[in-house]
Amino acid sequence: MQQLSVVILAAGKGKRMVSDLPKVLHSVGGRPLLGHVLATASGLQAVARLVVHGHGGEAVKATFASEQGVLWVEQAEQLGTGHAVAQALPLLGDGGVVLVLYGDVPLIRAETLQPLVAAARQDRLALLTVELADPTGYGRIVRDDREQVQRIVEEKDATPSERCLCEVNTGILAVSAARLRGWVAELNNDNAQGEYYLTDVIALAVRDGVPVEPFTVTEPLEVQGVNDRRQLAELERFYQARQIEALLANGATLLDPARIDIRGAVTTGKDVVIDVNVVFEGTVRLGNRVRIGPFCVLRDVVIGDDVEILSHCRIEDAEIGPGAQIGPFARLRPGARLAAGVHIGNFVEVKKSSIGPGSKVNHLTYIGDAEIGANVNVGAGTITCNYDGANKHKTIIEDGAFIGSNSSLVAPVRVGKGATVGAGSSVSRDVPDGSLCLTRAPRKDVANWERPVKPKKG
Ligand code: UD1
Ligand code: CA
Repeated sequence: MQQLSVVILAAGKGKRMVSDLPKVLHSVGGRPLLGHVLATASGLQAVARLVVHGHGGEAVKATFASEQGVLWVEQAEQLGTGHAVAQALPLLGDGGVVLVLYGDVPLIRAETLQPLVAAARQDRLALLTVELADPTGYGRIVRDDREQVQRIVEEKDATPSERCLCEVNTGILAVSAARLRGWVAELNNDNAQGEYYLTDVIALAVRDGVPVEPFTVTEPLEVQGVNDRRQLAELERFYQARQIEALLANGATLLDPARIDIRGAVTTGKDVVIDVNVVFEGTVRLGNRVRIGPFCVLRDVVIGDDVEILSHCRIEDAEIGPGAQIGPFARLRPGARLAAGVHIGNFVEVKKSSIGPGSKVNHLTYIGDAEIGANVNVGAGTITCNYDGANKHKTIIEDGAFIGSNSSLVAPVRVGKGATVGAGSSVSRDVPDGSLCLTRAPRKDVANWERPVKPKKG
């Protein structure tokens, strides 16, 4: 089978974004526009992915530095889509087929592109078109009276009657590399915009008797480009709708499908229930019967079966064991690992700590750099003092220990098995197994104490 190379055009400036960020680095669904296109190209088993970028594409390159097998081609001056493709062709052999995509058309699906690639492998020129109610600005597809595609005419070069055509060029096409090389070499810029139009290869194919096969997408948003913030927002909503359909199809209950955002990949077990205004980022895995309350943000989290997350939690880079209960108003930061049945209550922050099965940290507490065993009870207002201004230190609390309210555990420190720390203690030395630690100052009562009074005025 002829190998596929994907050429992604991304040299355009994107002025209408009114942004310092290159256009293809703006995000849809938490991923840069170009990231979507690169991923789709990978999904098509492309042997090469070439990105044609503009002058100063350093930020774009840097963003994708870790992507394997991306070739970067600079088009220093934007002389048109034909010129852009010409910059990439020297890097390609003649044996395979080329698919041209746009870096700012992020939501095109591999399923839509596969038939184009297949047609190109049969030495056809495959072209993706779409019917638009308002075709203003796009290249129009000109067909003959037998409905055969003859050429594409750009809006600025079109006659009034051609402008009435509603079938437009998406810009996406696939064809043999050898054919494309020949035609691109023949392009000129003798047109209204003084640009080298890639679209002129259609007429050249017709001239050379290469069959032009149009494919038409039914959903315009799939081939919608991003030129301004409005289009970016539109595509964000369209992308969300797709993600949400997939969640619903997989059996999740969404109390309002319009009030959930997925900026990454979410997988759900059976009978998951998600309340309103929940944001998922990165990779999130929810077990069976997980319930998520309103106004939660979850990023890169693995959640076991039967976990309940109450409202207003932020959970990031964490693992939550089965049957745990979190929130409301809890913050789990990177490296929080909670075992089965753990309870984390309101205004509790956990960072880089493991908490053993059945342990409870229910109110107003900071747990950082700690290892907490099973069935530990951490009282309200407990702080692990993990930072001395220069270094982080560890707190270890062993199985069955009880930490009284408003205690500070000054790390490095260990509270032994079954030990008890009295309320209000400041613990800076290890507490032996089974013992009670109290650091309260002895109480003093001064009888009949008279509070100072303000001197009377005048
Ligand atoms: C192009 C098509 C038009 C089609 C439209 C779909 C041509 C001549 N016209 O229009 O038929 O309906 O796309 O959106 O091809 N780019 C470069 N280098 C350049 C010029 C463009 O990399 O020199 C890239 C842009 O970054 C963008 C894409 O090519 O990703 C399309 O460019 P754009 O200016 O948006 O499209 P038009 O040329 O107006
Ligand atoms: Ca243009």
